Amino acid sequence: MKVIAIVSTAGGTGRTTLSAALAVLLARRGRQTVALDLDPQNMLGAHLGIDGFAPQGIAHALLDDTHAWHAHTWRNAEGVLFVPYGAVSLAQSARCDARLAAEPRWLATALAQLDLPRDGVVLIDTARYPSQQAEQAVGCADLVLCVTPPEPAACATLVVRLAALRSGGAQLRIVVNRLNPARDMQRDVLAMLGAALGDGVPLVQRVHLDGALPESFARGTWLFDDAPHSQASHDLHGVANWLDTWLADAPRKPTHRDGERA
Ligand SMILES: Nc1ncnc2c1ncn2[C@@H]1O[C@H](COP(=O)(O)OP(=O)(O)OP(=O)(O)O)[C@@H](O)[C@H]1O
Ligand SMILES: [Mg+2]
Repeated sequence: MKVIAIVSTAGGTGRTTLSAALAVLLARRGRQTVALDLDPQNMLGAHLGIDGFAPQGIAHALLDDTHAWHAHTWRNAEGVLFVPYGAVSLAQSARCDARLAAEPRWLATALAQLDLPRDGVVLIDTARYPSQQAEQAVGCADLVLCVTPPEPAACATLVVRLAALRSGGAQLRIVVNRLNPARDMQRDVLAMLGAALGDGVPLVQRVHLDGALPESFARGTWLFDDAPHSQASHDLHGVANWLDTWLADAPRKPTHRDGERA
């Protein structure tokens, strides 16, 4: 089982959209796929086609050790196993954050309870980085997928956090989302980002801006089914193919999870 954390240092970059789309595309490629929502917004379920907001989830296991979060998982129509964050009040949210801060290995221990095969994958949608949720996900990830729009402010915040994002030892890759080739400025921003990343972190994939993406979400369908020949659908398949190959080839990061199993 490999763990992929989907993070970003700006808000509204498309991490929940990409988490859901990639989970479905990997499931369609035959992988056992878990989509875990580690964002108090609790929105990933809606993207995966679950009606309404899941009331219970992993947050309730943070609040109460006797809460079995596995009892509140859902399987969507595509076979993705979905673990919600759950609905929390402001006070509960603060308690969740405090527990994650006090127990940096809490998520790793929870993930060790998942009985996934070696070629299974857990995709974690996270609250905006830095946050306790994103920090935990980065800490136990084999791969950190960092989603950013090719915009100056978003890329600047990413560059500032690069060292911290790399510090967990996971591979780090960038997905540039909402690319609009009509805007020259985006080319300049990408060149600057490339220079800041250096040789070690290629910009793996680009997903073009497509106004049909939010519309598909609103309809409860998938862009890659509604408009399979669109550029953004092609891009999403490209990211999924890259991930599928990476999952098959990349060695697992040696982590404390191994120690826990021993
Ligand atoms: N490539 C794209 N083209 C057009 N719209 C997009 C694209 N990617 C995402 N969006 C839209 O951008 C909006 C924000 O996406 P999403 O909620 O996935 O971002 P997020 O990073 O999870 O946001 P938050 O910081 O609130 O968690 C949504 O309306 C989504 O449909
Ligand atoms: Mg989100």
